[in-house]
Amino acid sequence: MATVTRAQATTPRRTNALGVHSLNRFVFTVPDLAPAEAFYRSFGLDARRDGDRLDLYTQGHPHCWGSIHANGQPKRLQYLSFAAYAEDFDALAQRVRGAGAADAHPLSDGRGAWTRDADGTAIQVVVGPKVSPAVKSAHAQEPPPAAGKGAAPNRSAAAPVRPRRLSHVLLFSPDVPRQTEFYERVLGLRLADRSGDVIAFMYGPHASDHHMVAFAKSEAPGLHHSSWDVGHFDDVGLGAELMKAKGYVNGWGVGRHVLGSNYFYYVQDPWGSWAEYSYDIDFVPEDVEWPAADHPAEDSFYIWGPSVPDDFVVNREQPRTA
Ligand SMILES: [Fe+2]
Repeated sequence: MATVTRAQATTPRRTNALGVHSLNRFVFTVPDLAPAEAFYRSFGLDARRDGDRLDLYTQGHPHCWGSIHANGQPKRLQYLSFAAYAEDFDALAQRVRGAGAADAHPLSDGRGAWTRDADGTAIQVVVGPKVSPAVKSAHAQEPPPAAGKGAAPNRSAAAPVRPRRLSHVLLFSPDVPRQTEFYERVLGLRLADRSGDVIAFMYGPHASDHHMVAFAKSEAPGLHHSSWDVGHFDDVGLGAELMKAKGYVNGWGVGRHVLGSNYFYYVQDPWGSWAEYSYDIDFVPEDVEWPAADHPAEDSFYIWGPSVPDDFVVNREQPRTA
C-alpha cells in the first residue's frame, strides 16, 4: 500500500482548521527604486525591475515574495498578501470580508478578498500555492560531509549567498495583542510565542516556520524586517561579510534567537529597516500544537551574539493620518 510520507506531502492540512497557509507577498513603497535594487541584489535575491516596481524573487524559485514600488515618499508598508487552499477560499473570504471589507489596494493585482488588520494595514487573501515550508527546511548539504576530510572550502571558493525563500516578516504595531487576536480570528494563524505585549510570533495552521508573521510594539505600524531562509550556517556569516564589503555596514549578528531558534544576521537597508539572513528556524508541522508561552524578554531574545544596536527597534515609518 502506498504511504504518503511527510516529505512527500506538499499540501499539508491541519484537521478542522480554517486559515491561510502562506505569506504570499509583502509590499512596501520607497522614495526611489535604485537603492532598493542595489540592496536586494547584493543581499542575494533575484530582484527584477518592472517600471516603477521591483519584484523580489529567490534564485531559481518561481514565486514572487515581495514587491517594492517607488512613489517619491518615505518608506512605508502598504499591504500583506496571504495564500489559501482553493477549497478554503470561500469560507475564508467570507470571514475576511466580515471583519470589514476593504477595497483592493491600488498597487495590487486586485484579486481575492480584502480587509484591513487591527492596525489598518491592507490585507489580501488569494488562492495560491503553498510557499511556506511543508517540512522542516533541510541543510543545504545532505548528508553533511563525512569524517576524514576537510569540510570547509577555500575562502575564494565559498559559494555566493543565495537565500532560498522568504521565511517571515516582522511588523511594528501599537497594539501587539490586538494584532495577534485579529490574525488568529480572521486569518487562522496561531500564536507560537510572545513576550508580554512587546513581541508576538505567529505560525500558519497548515505547517510553517515558527513564525510567518511577527509583531513588535511601537508607536505606529510599519515594516521592521523581512527574513530570508538560507541553507547553511556559513551563509549567515558569509552574507554579513558580503554586505559589509558592499557598503552595508550596519547590522546585528551573527547570533542565535531563542524564540524560533534561528541563527541570524540582520543588515540595515537603505531606509533604516532590516533584512535578515536566517538559518535553521524552528518548524511547526500540521499535526503539532506549538506550546505557546509568554517568555521574559530579557531571557528570550537571543542566546548569544553581539549587543543589540541602539536603533534596532526604531520605527522610521511615520504614524498614519488615515
Ligand atoms: Fe526575524
